[in-house]
Amino acid sequence: MNIIITGASRGIGYELVKWFAREGKHNILALSRSKSKLQELQREATNEGKSRVFILPFDLVNGNFRDELLPFVNAHLPKVDVLINNAGKLINKRIEDTSDDEFDAQFNVNIKGPFKIVRALYEHFAENAHIVNITSMGGYQGSIKFPGLGIYSASKGAISIFTEALAEEWKERNVFVNALALGAVQTEMLSEAFPQMNVDTAPDEMAAYIGQFALTGHRFYNGKVLPVTNSTP
Ligand SMILES: NC(=O)c1ccc[n+]([C@@H]2O[C@H](COP(=O)([O-])OP(=O)(O)OC[C@H]3O[C@@H](n4cnc5c(N)ncnc54)[C@H](OP(=O)(O)O)[C@@H]3O)[C@@H](O)[C@H]2O)c1
Repeated sequence: MNIIITGASRGIGYELVKWFAREGKHNILALSRSKSKLQELQREATNEGKSRVFILPFDLVNGNFRDELLPFVNAHLPKVDVLINNAGKLINKRIEDTSDDEFDAQFNVNIKGPFKIVRALYEHFAENAHIVNITSMGGYQGSIKFPGLGIYSASKGAISIFTEALAEEWKERNVFVNALALGAVQTEMLSEAFPQMNVDTAPDEMAAYIGQFALTGHRFYNGKVLPVTNSTP
C-alpha cells in the first residue's frame, strides 16, 4: 500500500508511521514541519519494519502543494491508497480570549490543511483509496464540550462535516472518506494543553486502532464520523 500520514513528527502520527512500517510492505510518506524529528522517525521505523519510509518536511498551512508535495508524491507513491489527515493544532483558551491569529492557526491546520491536501492529491488517489480524517470527540455533535476547547472543537466539527461532504462528492470515484473522533490520548498535545491530565490511552495503542481502520474500515463505512472513546459522554 502507498500511505501518507500527516502530523508524523510526534504523538499519534509518529506511532502510526511505526505501526504501518511493522505491519507490512508499504511505502509510507511521513509529513510534518520538523525535519529532525522526521529523520529520527525514519531511522526508527525503517529499523523496525519491512516498509519503505519516506519523509518530507512540509507545512500544511504555508507549504506549496503543487511544487513541493506533488513532485515528491509522484516520484515515490504515485497512487495513494491511504491518506491519514492526522496533523492537528490545539490552543486551550476560552472563546472570549482567543485572538484572530489563534482562531486561524487552529482552523488552518485542522480543516484547511486537510482540504488543501485532498484537493492537491485529487488525481493521485488509487481505486478504493481510503481517506481517514482524525477529528475529536469535541467535534462530535452532541458530545460534552470542555471550556477552553471551543475553537479547537469547532474546527474539528468542520472536518467532521467535511468528511461527510467529501465522501458524497467522491463516491463515484471509489474514494472512501471517514473520520475517527478520538477521545483523550496521552500525547504532547494533551500534556501541553492540560498539564495535570493523565489518561490511560497511549499513542501507540490509538495508532494501532487507526492503522487497522485505515486498511479495512472503508469496506464497512463511508462518510461516517465514528467516536473512538469509552469514557467521553
Ligand atoms: N491527543 C489527544 O488527546 C487527541 C484527542 C482527540 C483528537 N486528537 C487529534 O489527533 C491528532 C493527533 O494528535 P496528537 O495528540 O498526536 O498531536 P501532537 O502530538 O500535537 O502532534 C501534532 C502533529 O501535527 C503536526 N503539525 C502541526 N501543525 C502542522 C503544520 N502546519 N503542517 C504540518 N504538520 C503540522 C505536528 O508536527 P510539526 O510541529 O513538526 O509540524 C505534529 O506532528 C490531531 O489531529 C488531534 O487534534 C488528539
